[in-house]
Amino acid sequence: MKNINLVILFSGNGSNMENLINSLHSQEYFLKDTQEKAKIQISCAVTNNPNAYGISRCEALGINCEILPHKDFDCREDFDVALIDLLKNYQPDAVILAGFMRILSPIFTSTIRSINIHPSLLPKHKGSNAIKDTYESDDEFGGVSVHWVNEILDGGEIILQDYIPKIAGESLEEFENRIHQLEYALYPNAILKALNLTQVIKNG
Ligand code: GRF
Repeated sequence: MKNINLVILFSGNGSNMENLINSLHSQEYFLKDTQEKAKIQISCAVTNNPNAYGISRCEALGINCEILPHKDFDCREDFDVALIDLLKNYQPDAVILAGFMRILSPIFTSTIRSINIHPSLLPKHKGSNAIKDTYESDDEFGGVSVHWVNEILDGGEIILQDYIPKIAGESLEEFENRIHQLEYALYPNAILKALNLTQVIKNG
Protein backbone atom coordinates (compact mmCIF):
# COMPACT_ATOMS: atom_id res chain seq x y z
CA MET A 1 0.00 0.00 0.00
CA LYS A 2 1.38 3.39 -1.02
CA ASN A 3 1.02 6.19 1.52
CA ILE A 4 0.14 9.64 0.20
CA ASN A 5 1.18 12.24 2.71
CA LEU A 6 -0.54 15.65 2.70
CA VAL A 7 0.01 18.77 4.79
CA ILE A 8 -2.72 21.46 4.95
CA LEU A 9 -1.99 25.18 5.36
CA PHE A 10 -4.69 27.48 6.79
CA SER A 11 -4.97 30.93 8.35
CA GLY A 12 -8.33 31.33 10.06
CA ASN A 13 -11.63 29.54 10.38
CA GLY A 14 -10.40 26.27 8.90
CA SER A 15 -13.73 24.88 7.70
CA ASN A 16 -12.21 23.62 4.42
CA MET A 17 -9.36 22.04 6.36
CA GLU A 18 -11.84 20.23 8.62
CA ASN A 19 -13.84 19.07 5.61
CA LEU A 20 -10.69 17.72 3.92
CA ILE A 21 -9.64 15.86 7.06
CA ASN A 22 -13.10 14.33 7.42
CA SER A 23 -13.28 13.44 3.72
CA LEU A 24 -9.75 12.22 2.94
CA HIS A 25 -7.70 11.38 6.03
CA SER A 26 -6.96 7.66 6.41
CA GLN A 27 -9.10 6.84 3.35
CA GLU A 28 -7.96 4.27 0.80
CA TYR A 29 -8.04 4.68 -2.97
CA PHE A 30 -6.60 3.22 -6.15
CA LEU A 31 -3.89 4.94 -8.15
CA LYS A 32 -5.47 5.30 -11.60
CA ASP A 33 -2.41 4.28 -13.60
CA THR A 34 -1.24 1.20 -11.71
CA GLN A 35 -4.38 0.21 -9.73
CA GLU A 36 -2.05 0.09 -6.71
CA LYS A 37 -3.81 0.81 -3.41
CA ALA A 38 -3.00 4.15 -1.81
CA LYS A 39 -3.89 5.61 1.56
CA ILE A 40 -4.04 9.35 2.23
CA GLN A 41 -2.52 10.54 5.50
CA ILE A 42 -2.87 14.16 6.55
CA SER A 43 0.22 14.27 8.71
CA CYS A 44 -0.01 17.86 9.83
CA ALA A 45 -1.74 21.21 9.48
CA VAL A 46 0.21 24.45 9.60
CA THR A 47 -1.08 27.94 10.34
CA ASN A 48 0.61 31.33 10.14
CA ASN A 49 -1.93 32.73 12.64
CA PRO A 50 -1.61 31.83 16.35
CA ASN A 51 -5.23 32.93 16.88
CA ALA A 52 -6.74 30.87 14.07
CA TYR A 53 -9.99 29.13 15.02
CA GLY A 54 -8.84 26.17 12.93
CA ILE A 55 -6.26 25.28 15.61
CA SER A 56 -9.05 24.06 17.89
CA ARG A 57 -10.56 22.14 14.96
CA CYS A 58 -7.23 20.27 14.62
CA GLU A 59 -7.22 19.46 18.34
CA ALA A 60 -10.76 18.07 18.11
CA LEU A 61 -9.84 16.02 15.03
CA GLY A 62 -6.59 14.69 16.50
CA ILE A 63 -4.46 16.26 13.76
CA ASN A 64 -1.06 17.69 14.69
CA CYS A 65 -1.06 21.48 14.16
CA GLU A 66 2.11 23.54 13.79
CA ILE A 67 2.00 27.31 14.36
CA LEU A 68 4.48 29.42 12.39
CA PRO A 69 3.56 33.09 12.96
CA HIS A 70 4.45 35.17 9.90
CA LYS A 71 4.85 38.18 12.21
CA ASP A 72 8.04 36.58 13.57
CA PHE A 73 9.74 37.20 10.21
CA ASP A 74 11.06 40.40 8.63
CA CYS A 75 9.96 39.62 5.10
CA ARG A 76 7.84 37.26 3.02
CA GLU A 77 10.87 35.33 1.75
CA ASP A 78 12.22 34.61 5.27
CA PHE A 79 8.82 33.26 6.29
CA ASP A 80 8.66 31.09 3.17
CA VAL A 81 12.13 29.63 3.86
CA ALA A 82 11.05 28.74 7.42
CA LEU A 83 7.81 27.25 6.10
CA ILE A 84 9.73 25.09 3.60
CA ASP A 85 12.03 23.91 6.40
CA LEU A 86 9.04 23.00 8.55
CA LEU A 87 7.34 21.15 5.71
CA LYS A 88 10.51 19.14 5.01
CA ASN A 89 10.05 17.45 8.39
CA TYR A 90 6.83 15.92 7.04
CA GLN A 91 7.99 15.07 3.47
CA PRO A 92 4.56 15.80 1.96
CA ASP A 93 3.63 14.48 -1.49
CA ALA A 94 1.56 17.66 -1.87
CA VAL A 95 0.70 20.67 0.25
CA ILE A 96 -2.93 21.76 0.34
CA LEU A 97 -3.80 25.43 0.86
CA ALA A 98 -7.19 25.80 2.52
CA GLY A 99 -7.88 29.42 3.39
CA PHE A 100 -4.16 30.19 3.66
CA MET A 101 -4.17 33.97 3.39
CA ARG A 102 -0.50 34.58 2.60
CA ILE A 103 0.92 35.36 -0.81
CA LEU A 104 3.65 32.80 -1.41
CA SER A 105 6.92 33.91 -2.98
CA PRO A 106 8.67 32.07 -5.84
CA ILE A 107 10.99 30.60 -3.17
CA PHE A 108 7.98 28.56 -2.01
CA THR A 109 6.18 28.00 -5.30
CA SER A 110 9.30 26.71 -7.06
CA THR A 111 10.07 24.25 -4.24
CA ILE A 112 6.74 22.92 -2.97
CA ARG A 113 4.05 21.20 -5.04
CA SER A 114 0.84 22.77 -3.78
CA ILE A 115 -2.85 23.09 -4.55
CA ASN A 116 -5.18 25.99 -3.68
CA ILE A 117 -8.93 26.62 -3.57
CA HIS A 118 -10.29 29.99 -4.66
CA PRO A 119 -13.95 31.02 -4.27
CA SER A 120 -14.57 32.33 -7.79
CA LEU A 121 -14.65 31.11 -11.36
CA LEU A 122 -11.03 31.94 -12.16
CA PRO A 123 -9.68 33.79 -14.02
CA LYS A 124 -12.49 36.07 -12.81
CA HIS A 125 -12.21 37.78 -9.43
CA LYS A 126 -8.71 36.94 -8.24
CA GLY A 127 -7.61 38.18 -4.80
CA SER A 128 -8.99 38.11 -1.28
CA ASN A 129 -12.50 39.56 -1.92
CA ALA A 130 -13.58 37.06 -4.55
CA ILE A 131 -16.99 36.21 -3.09
CA LYS A 132 -18.03 39.86 -2.56
CA ASP A 133 -16.60 40.85 -5.93
CA THR A 134 -18.62 38.11 -7.64
CA TYR A 135 -21.77 39.04 -5.67
CA GLU A 136 -21.47 42.69 -6.68
CA SER A 137 -20.62 41.94 -10.32
CA ASP A 138 -23.01 41.50 -13.25
CA ASP A 139 -21.96 37.85 -13.52
CA GLU A 140 -24.82 35.35 -13.71
CA PHE A 141 -22.79 32.69 -11.94
CA GLY A 142 -20.52 32.35 -8.96
CA GLY A 143 -18.13 29.48 -8.54
CA VAL A 144 -15.15 27.76 -7.02
CA SER A 145 -11.81 26.89 -8.61
CA VAL A 146 -9.15 24.44 -7.44
CA HIS A 147 -5.77 25.02 -9.06
CA TRP A 148 -2.11 24.16 -8.88
CA VAL A 149 -0.12 26.95 -7.24
CA ASN A 150 2.49 28.80 -9.26
CA GLU A 151 4.23 32.16 -8.87
CA ILE A 152 1.19 34.05 -10.20
CA LEU A 153 -1.45 34.76 -7.53
CA ASP A 154 -4.54 32.61 -8.24
CA GLY A 155 -3.01 31.95 -11.65
CA GLY A 156 -1.94 28.29 -11.73
CA GLU A 157 -3.40 25.54 -13.89
CA ILE A 158 -7.03 24.74 -13.06
CA ILE A 159 -7.68 21.23 -11.69
CA LEU A 160 -11.48 21.46 -11.26
CA GLN A 161 -14.15 24.17 -11.22
CA ASP A 162 -17.87 24.24 -10.44
CA TYR A 163 -20.46 26.98 -10.43
CA ILE A 164 -23.80 28.08 -8.97
CA PRO A 165 -26.30 30.51 -10.47
CA LYS A 166 -26.79 33.77 -8.63
CA ILE A 167 -30.30 34.16 -7.17
CA ALA A 168 -32.12 37.49 -7.40
CA GLY A 169 -32.65 39.06 -3.97
CA GLU A 170 -30.17 36.77 -2.23
CA SER A 171 -28.05 38.41 0.50
CA LEU A 172 -24.26 38.36 0.39
CA GLU A 173 -24.28 36.05 3.41
CA GLU A 174 -26.62 33.57 1.71
CA PHE A 175 -24.53 33.63 -1.46
CA GLU A 176 -21.35 33.15 0.57
CA ASN A 177 -22.86 30.13 2.35
CA ARG A 178 -23.71 28.51 -0.96
CA ILE A 179 -20.17 29.14 -2.23
CA HIS A 180 -18.75 27.46 0.89
CA GLN A 181 -21.02 24.43 0.39
CA LEU A 182 -19.71 24.20 -3.16
CA GLU A 183 -16.13 24.37 -1.83
CA TYR A 184 -16.77 21.48 0.56
CA ALA A 185 -18.15 19.34 -2.29
CA LEU A 186 -15.47 20.26 -4.82
CA TYR A 187 -12.16 20.35 -2.93
CA PRO A 188 -11.82 16.67 -1.89
CA ASN A 189 -12.70 15.52 -5.42
CA ALA A 190 -10.29 17.99 -7.00
CA ILE A 191 -7.46 16.74 -4.76
CA LEU A 192 -8.20 13.13 -5.73
CA LYS A 193 -8.16 14.15 -9.39
CA ALA A 194 -4.87 16.04 -8.97
CA LEU A 195 -3.26 13.07 -7.22
CA ASN A 196 -4.56 10.63 -9.82
CA LEU A 197 -6.60 8.69 -7.26
CA THR A 198 -9.92 6.97 -7.77
CA GLN A 199 -12.65 5.07 -5.97
CA VAL A 200 -12.79 4.77 -2.20
CA ILE A 201 -12.41 1.10 -1.30
CA LYS A 202 -12.79 1.28 2.48
CA ASN A 203 -13.93 3.80 5.05
CA GLY A 204 -11.52 4.17 7.96
C1 GRF B 1 -12.49 29.91 1.62
O1 GRF B 1 -13.59 30.55 1.00
C2 GRF B 1 -11.36 29.77 0.66
O2 GRF B 1 -11.74 29.50 -0.64
C3 GRF B 1 -10.72 31.14 0.74
O3 GRF B 1 -10.79 31.48 2.11
C4 GRF B 1 -11.91 30.82 2.70
C5 GRF B 1 -11.40 30.05 3.89
O4 GRF B 1 -12.42 29.55 4.68
N1 GRF B 1 -9.40 31.13 0.19
P1 GRF B 1 -12.10 28.41 5.77
O5 GRF B 1 -10.94 28.93 6.61
O6 GRF B 1 -11.76 27.17 5.04
O7 GRF B 1 -13.36 28.28 6.58
